[in-house]
Amino acid sequence: MKHFFAPAVLLLTGTLTVTAQTEPIRIDLAQKGAVVSPNLFGIFFEEINHAGDGGLYAELVQNRGFEEHVLPSGMTYKDGKAYAPDAMNYEHRNNRNWNIPWNLEEKKMTGWRVTDEKATVTGEVVEVKVPLHTNTPHAMQLTIKKVQKGGKAVLTNTGYWGIGLKQGEKYDLRFYVKSASYKGSITARLVDGTTGKSLGTTVFAARQLKDWTELTATLTANDTAAKGELALEFDKPGTVLIDYVSLFPQATFKGRKNGQRADVAQMLVDLHPKFMRWPGGCIVEGTTYENRVKWKETLGDPMTRRGEWDLWGYRATWGMGYHEFLQFCEDLGMDAMFVNNAGMSCSVRNGDFVSSDADMDAVIQDFRDAIDYALADPTRNKWAKMRADAGHPKPFPLKYVEIGNENVGPEYVTHFNYIFKRLKAEYPQITFINTLGHTDQLLAQVPGQYMVDPHWYRDPNFFFANNHLFDDAPRTHDIYVGEYACLGGVGAGNLLAAISEAAFILGMERNSDVVKMSSYAPLFENENRRDWPCNLIHMNSLEVYGRASYYVQQMAANNRPSYNVYVSEPTTGDPKTTRHFCQTGYDEQTGELIIKVVNGTDQPYRRSFTIDGATNVMPTGRVIALSGNATDENTFEQPTKLSPQTSLFGKFGKQFSYEFAPMSFTIMRVKVQGLAASVQPTGQQERRRGFQREAFTTDTPMVHDPVMAKEGDTYYIYATGMGIQQLTSRDRKTWTVSRQPVMSVIPGWTTDSVPGFGNHVWAPDVIQWHVAGGLHIVARHLGRTDRPSAC
Ligand code: AHR
Repeated sequence: MKHFFAPAVLLLTGTLTVTAQTEPIRIDLAQKGAVVSPNLFGIFFEEINHAGDGGLYAELVQNRGFEEHVLPSGMTYKDGKAYAPDAMNYEHRNNRNWNIPWNLEEKKMTGWRVTDEKATVTGEVVEVKVPLHTNTPHAMQLTIKKVQKGGKAVLTNTGYWGIGLKQGEKYDLRFYVKSASYKGSITARLVDGTTGKSLGTTVFAARQLKDWTELTATLTANDTAAKGELALEFDKPGTVLIDYVSLFPQATFKGRKNGQRADVAQMLVDLHPKFMRWPGGCIVEGTTYENRVKWKETLGDPMTRRGEWDLWGYRATWGMGYHEFLQFCEDLGMDAMFVNNAGMSCSVRNGDFVSSDADMDAVIQDFRDAIDYALADPTRNKWAKMRADAGHPKPFPLKYVEIGNENVGPEYVTHFNYIFKRLKAEYPQITFINTLGHTDQLLAQVPGQYMVDPHWYRDPNFFFANNHLFDDAPRTHDIYVGEYACLGGVGAGNLLAAISEAAFILGMERNSDVVKMSSYAPLFENENRRDWPCNLIHMNSLEVYGRASYYVQQMAANNRPSYNVYVSEPTTGDPKTTRHFCQTGYDEQTGELIIKVVNGTDQPYRRSFTIDGATNVMPTGRVIALSGNATDENTFEQPTKLSPQTSLFGKFGKQFSYEFAPMSFTIMRVKVQGLAASVQPTGQQERRRGFQREAFTTDTPMVHDPVMAKEGDTYYIYATGMGIQQLTSRDRKTWTVSRQPVMSVIPGWTTDSVPGFGNHVWAPDVIQWHVAGGLHIVARHLGRTDRPSAC
């Protein structure tokens, strides 16, 4: 969704008071529902709200390369505006004359200040004839005219609304200078910007600086400061060029060079995400096609990375680039999801696109190179060699590739088909993602196995009312809910927003046979920069906290059951207006029944439960609950005001009752023993609740008339059975027996042509036919050539 919706007012009054429910909520452990996808909860990273620069990425100097004012690629400057090229918008089929205001001079000094004490100095960002690196042609030029005894010219960086300095921590400084005339020393100083107090210095003695010269030092902060600054002081006259000024804490996450801020990264660790999406978001599309994220420009020494203006209104350094993203995924044990431009820019902006075969082939090659960078053998592929040269010869955990972001319409379908067809054949191990919504009619024109990526940014009413959204969703494509957040009329993200998201999550979990992955968006907000109304994690230069929605994500991820079990009231009352939800599952690892209840009213909610399908229900179990006032929010002053509290409850049993707090999300973990043999729900119930028969793994598969095929690194067995039995394996030792047949519905013409045919298919065969995909069926009576057959 490009647009979020106008706030809807949700009245929380006594009128929602709960009337006592007579019937208990019945849970039956013997009725299994969908296996809950192990990958259901992941994270979505985009450079928005200074999520990376000034957020997760640990660099402390803002505008370190003096490139902030550089126009978005593909745009031209005229009279205070940057103009996109004249081009047809791929969705609207018109020229939108796209332009944005552009204040060149103001942008140049972003993050910097030039001052003097008993000296005269001017500072200007200039284009340099012999730049430090061709990718970054600009530098700061200081012209220092007069310096009295004890005087100095000072170039100060104020960081991202203050450099966060911590007492006793070490900071690595790296910068470059060039001057034919400067003969003095250079002092680098950490300063408390509020008091002016010096917190650590180092002096670089006068030296020859005719060519670009790298200066490095480690400074230790002797005090803590939230509004720290970095000052470079010059004590003699001369003209000096300064470029790429970087200050990095040594204590990054896992001590990685050019890595992430440890406290911010830890917030992500604590979410236990199964995957991370990078780099977005709209910025993948770009405001113009040329402005898209070009992952190749995010590799190598950060000093050589040109960065790119980010359509959220500032320049991204891409210091946290493709390699760092993949490394971070590996460090957190998550799968990587890479999103790349599909040959078209954002249709809400310029929407220009490429269409010639040559351009589209270049788009495909760019995808290939990215996948190879992450996965290929360094001895055979130049991009993989770059990965190895950057210190990582082994493959990275890249598993998902999304083709575009939020692209829509027939032009996208053409692009997707062109790209996907080729890439899927070359990289069968990758799950590709299409940006169309899960009910988009255009999906019919896009053949193949891929996931779809619908997005929802809406108000609380929407999320409460859409707990059932996926119950009747088509089961043709797995769904990745790539972006969702409650943001209408909920402040910067209050408890009401979080509780409504919990109701929505319960619906995703219930339907996890089709909803396989999800990620809340956006992930981060620097407290000084809000480009989007509600964001999961807030930070400033020294602190970080999660909003109530953060804790809902964490609670859901930490309490994901292995599979769902029957509950009589997933919603209580009218599903469109109710505020009461219940979802139940079983955790095979711990032997616990997990009961999740959302009470989205301002009244307590007392319910009784009966538990069937187990001989024993242990009386004592854990209750994890998030509750408070609807309009409450976490803040830097009270960062965990809204956070889950865990307690023990001693009255669980086959019958028990519990009072859920007003405006709460509650998770109960109840030990159960002696599970009854499972019974399969059928028909309507099965479909509506995402019930499915489970797959299982075995080393002794019992099959009849098997035929084996291999695609990529997966072996497939097809065998005699209802609708053709199917099994998969990576090693031909352990086999996963799918409980779903190849064909759950047998085509009508088979029974028309072969009267008396049920759906028990014997002795299937696998034949590669003109390299075409799809299933070809020949139906005929066994052993009879004199009876009709059809193909
Ligand atoms: O998450 C913010 C933006 O919302 C994303 O960039 C985009 O994909 C969606 O429109």
